[in-house]
Amino acid sequence: MLRYRRRALIALSILVLGAAVTGGVVAASQSSDEQALQPVPHAASPAVEARVNSLLAHMTLEEKLQQIQLLPDFLVTDEAVRKGLGSVLSVTDPARIRELQRLAVEESRLKIPLLFAFDTIHGFRTIFPIPLGVGASFDPKVASDDAIYGARESAAVGLKQTYAPMVDVSHEPRWGRIAEAAGEDPYLNAVMAAVRVKGIQGSDYSARDKLVSSPKHFAAYGQPENGRDYNTTDMSEQRLRNLYLPPFKAALDAGADTFMCGFNALNGVPACGNRYLLTDILKGEWGFDGFVESDWTAVAELRACPPKTPDSGECGHGVAADGPEAAALALNAGVDSEMTSTLIRDFGEELLAKGEISISRINDAVRRILRIKMRAGLFEHPYAPYTPDQAEAQMLLPDAVAAARRAASRSMVLLKNEGNVLPLDPAKRTAVIGPLAKNQHDLLGPWWGRGEDEDVVTVFDGIAEQSTAATTYAEGCKLSNMEVPLTDPEGCGSDAGFAHAVAVAQAADQVVLALGETREMSGEANSRSTLDLPGLQEKLIEAIAATGKPFVVVLFNGRPLALEDIVDDAPAILEAWFPGVQGGPAVADVVFGSVNPGGKLPASFPYRVGQVPIYYNHERTGRPCNKTFKWNSQHRDIPSCSPLFEFGFGLSYTTFSITNLRLSAASVPTHGSISASVDVENTGTKTGDEVVQLYLHDPVA
Ligand code: BGC
Repeated sequence: MLRYRRRALIALSILVLGAAVTGGVVAASQSSDEQALQPVPHAASPAVEARVNSLLAHMTLEEKLQQIQLLPDFLVTDEAVRKGLGSVLSVTDPARIRELQRLAVEESRLKIPLLFAFDTIHGFRTIFPIPLGVGASFDPKVASDDAIYGARESAAVGLKQTYAPMVDVSHEPRWGRIAEAAGEDPYLNAVMAAVRVKGIQGSDYSARDKLVSSPKHFAAYGQPENGRDYNTTDMSEQRLRNLYLPPFKAALDAGADTFMCGFNALNGVPACGNRYLLTDILKGEWGFDGFVESDWTAVAELRACPPKTPDSGECGHGVAADGPEAAALALNAGVDSEMTSTLIRDFGEELLAKGEISISRINDAVRRILRIKMRAGLFEHPYAPYTPDQAEAQMLLPDAVAAARRAASRSMVLLKNEGNVLPLDPAKRTAVIGPLAKNQHDLLGPWWGRGEDEDVVTVFDGIAEQSTAATTYAEGCKLSNMEVPLTDPEGCGSDAGFAHAVAVAQAADQVVLALGETREMSGEANSRSTLDLPGLQEKLIEAIAATGKPFVVVLFNGRPLALEDIVDDAPAILEAWFPGVQGGPAVADVVFGSVNPGGKLPASFPYRVGQVPIYYNHERTGRPCNKTFKWNSQHRDIPSCSPLFEFGFGLSYTTFSITNLRLSAASVPTHGSISASVDVENTGTKTGDEVVQLYLHDPVA
C-alpha cells in the first residue's frame, strides 16, 4: 500500500443552511459524501451464471465473435444483427431501436437481445451543466439528479447502457475533456463518480428507468502530455494509484458493471492493449466481473500506420504490426467488446487457429457481456418501456427541468464581488451584453446528447423574466463556431459592435456581461494552447468598465481559464461553466440573489498557461515555493506560489466562520475511521450554504 504524501481532501461535508439558520450555528458532522461512497453489494447470482453458461454452450464461434462486436449507428446493418451482433451505440431514435431489437430477438438464431448504448454525459434531452460545473457544486445531490434524469430519458427510448460517468482526474486545463469530469481532485471525483453510478443504475438496472453505467476512460486519460487530446500519458505507479484510479474504484464499488478503456498510452502501453490495467488491476485485484468495451476504434489504433499515409486513421500507436496482432493484443489484454473497428470479429477465427488467442478468453469475454445483458433484464424485457410516441413525452418533464435549473445555479462559483456589486437589483434597468447573452447553442456544452438549441433559455430571457424594469441587449461581438481546422481561431475578432454595446450599457443602470468560450472549444479533440478569453472579449470588458456602470462578468466555459488580465477590470466575476438548458434562469437566480452562490472551484485557475499543471495536492520539493527567497521552486514572473484562484475557492453573498474542530478519537486504527466535526456559523446577513473542506497531509512519510 502506498502512503499518501500529498495534501489530500478527505471529506466535504455539504451543508445547506436554510433560511431558519441565517446568522445561526450549525454543527457539521454528517457528510453526504460518506453515504455516496458506501459500497453497493455485488449482483453476482448463481441463477444468472447458470443461464449464461447454458447459452454460451449453444453458441458457435461466429456468434461469440459477433457478441464481442459493438457497432455505431452508421455501421449497424440488419444483416449484422441477424448474425448475432452484440451491441449498438448512438442509435437514439426509439423506432429504429425497436426495429433493431426486434430483428435480434426474432430473427437471430439464439435471439440474444442487443445492448443499446449512448453517451448520456450531462443529460439526454434535459441537458444539465457540464460535469466540471457539477463538480463545482461539491454537492452529490446535483450529480445524482443529473444521472437519474439522464438515465430516465435515455431508458425511455430503449437505451440500456451509458458511457458515463467520465471520471478522469485532470490537471490539464488545456485538455478540452477536462469539462467532462469533476476536475483535479481524486476524492471529489470519487464522490461524484459513485453518486452518478448509483443514479444511473439504481439498486437494479433492469428497472425501466435505469441503465448500466460505464465509467471511463480507464485509465489516466486525463493527463495527456501538453494537454493535447489522445496524447501519451506517463506517470509513476504512485501517482496512478493515488490520483487517477480512486474514482474508478469508487465507481466500481458503487456497482458499475461495464468499463471503457482509454485512447491514451500509459507508460508506453495503450490502455486498450494494457493487460496490467484491464486484467491485473480491474478484473484481478478489484474483482470486476462485467465487461470492458474499447473506446471508439481504439483496438485498430494499436496498429502502426502504413508508411506514407499519414491520414489513414485508425492506426498510430504502433504496438501491433497489423489487424490480427491488434485484435490479439486487445483481447488478451482484457478488452471484451470492440467499439466500431471489427478486428476481433474479423480475425478471431484465424487467431484461434494459430493459438494467438484462446477459446477460454473468448468465452470469458462473451460470458461477461451476456451476464450484463441478463442483469439488465434484456432477455425478459428487450424493448423500451414506451412506444416511440410515448417516449417523446418523457423528455424535458417539469421535474427534470427544475433539477437542471437547480444544478446550474448550484454549480456557479462567485470568483469576485468587489463592493458587493452582486446581487443586482431586478427593479433596475439591466443591459445584457456579450456574445453569449442570447446564445442557446453554446450553453448546452460539449456533450449535448439529444439536447436541442431551442430547449435552452438564454441569459437574456432569464434576466428579462425576473426583471421588473427594462432589459436591453447588445451582442458586442460574435464568437465563431470554432471547428477544426480553425479559420478564425480568435472568435470575437472584431470590435465593430463595441460602440453599440457601450451605448446600451450607458442607457442602463447595470450590466450583465456574458462572455466565454464556444462549446466547440471544449470536449473531445478540442485542446487549446492558451487559456485566455478568446478574441477581443477582454477589450469588451474594458469598454464596459469605462462606462462606470456596475457590472458582472458571467463566464461560460469548459475549462479553467487564465483570468489574470480581466480580474482587475471586472468588479464581479461569476463562473457559470456551460450550464445546460436552464442556464439563463439559473444565472438570473444568482445574479438577482434568489440563489446565493455556494460553488467552489473543482480545478485551479492559473495566472497564465505557463503555470500549468498547477493543482493543490502536488508532491513536495526540497525547495518549496516561497516568494521572499530566490532559490526555490517558483516562476519568477508570477507574483504568487498559488494559482490565481485555488481549488476549493468560491465566495458567497454571506460569510461563514468554521470553528471548534473536534475528532471522535485521538488516533485512527489501521483500516479504521474517525469522525471530524466543526461548527459552521453564518456570520453575514444572507442565507447561504458552505462547503466544509478538510485536508490532511502526512508531513513525514
Ligand atoms: C469518446 C468516448 C465516447 C465514444 C462513443 C469516443 O470518441 O472518447 O468517450 O464514449 O467516443 O461516443
